[in-house]
Amino acid sequence: MTTIGIIGSGNIGSTVARAAIAHDYDVVIANSRGPQSLQDLVGELGPKAAAGTVEEAARAGDLVLVAIPLKAIGALPPEPFDGKIVIDANNYYPQRDGQIAELDDESTTTSELLQRQLPGAKVVKAFNHIMAPEILSTATDPGTSGRRALIVAGDDQAAKDEVAAFIDTIGFDVLDIGELAEGWRIQRDTPGYVGRLDSAGLRQSVEAAKRYRDM
Ligand SMILES: NC(=O)c1ccc[n+]([C@@H]2O[C@H](COP(=O)([O-])OP(=O)(O)OC[C@H]3O[C@@H](n4cnc5c(N)ncnc54)[C@H](OP(=O)(O)O)[C@@H]3O)[C@@H](O)[C@H]2O)c1
Repeated sequence: MTTIGIIGSGNIGSTVARAAIAHDYDVVIANSRGPQSLQDLVGELGPKAAAGTVEEAARAGDLVLVAIPLKAIGALPPEPFDGKIVIDANNYYPQRDGQIAELDDESTTTSELLQRQLPGAKVVKAFNHIMAPEILSTATDPGTSGRRALIVAGDDQAAKDEVAAFIDTIGFDVLDIGELAEGWRIQRDTPGYVGRLDSAGLRQSVEAAKRYRDM
C-alpha cells in the first residue's frame, strides 16, 4: 500500500490527507509544531493516519506532499527527501512570503526553488491551483463528463506519472504541462489558477498564460 508523507497540516495538507485516506492510502503528516500538536487531526483522520516529524513524514512517504508557506521551504532538511517524489503545492504570495527577488523578476519559479532546496528529490508541481476544500468537493470518478483537471509539471517523467496516477485516483484528470520551469503557466493570477476546468479548458488557459512581466 502506498504511503503519502504530508509536510504541512493546514488547508492543503489536511485536505489531501482526507482525500488520500478516502482512497485507501496511508498518511504520515507533519507540521512545524511537532507530532503532539497533530493528535486531534490524526484522531479525526482515523487508523490510516499517523503524525510524525518532518523527517519521519518525508522518509515514510512513497509520495511526499510539501504544503507549507513558500517562505518556510528553506527550513526543510534535504536528506530525508533524497530519492523521493515530492509534490509541490506552493504558491508565492509576497504579502505572506516576503519579496523573493528571483520570483519577482521571474528568473525562476516556485517549484524550481523547492527543487533547489531538496536536490535529491524528484519535485513535481501539483495542487497549487485548486482551493483546498475543492480537492474533496469537486472530485469525481474517472470518465465523468467534464471532469475537472489538475496540472503536473516536473523534470522526471516517471515521477510525474506516479503523481498523475495519484491525482486520477483521488478524483481528477491530469494535464502534463512539461518541465518544472513551465510551472509559471499556472502560477497565481494566471487564467487557469483556481478555475474549475476540464482538460481542454485547462490546456487552453495554460497556453494563454502570460508572464507577470508581460502583463
Ligand atoms: N489554501 C489553499 O486553498 C491553497 C491552494 C493551493 C495552494 N496553496 C499553497 O499551499 C501552501 C500551503 O497552504 P495552506 O493554505 O495549506 O497553508 P496553511 O493552512 O497556513 O498551513 C501551513 C502548514 O505548514 C506548516 N509549516 C509551516 N512551516 C513549516 C515547517 N518549517 N516545517 C513543517 N511544517 C511547516 C504549518 O505548521 P503549523 O500548523 O505547526 O504552524 C501548517 O501546518 C502555500 O504555499 C499555499 O499558497 C494553498
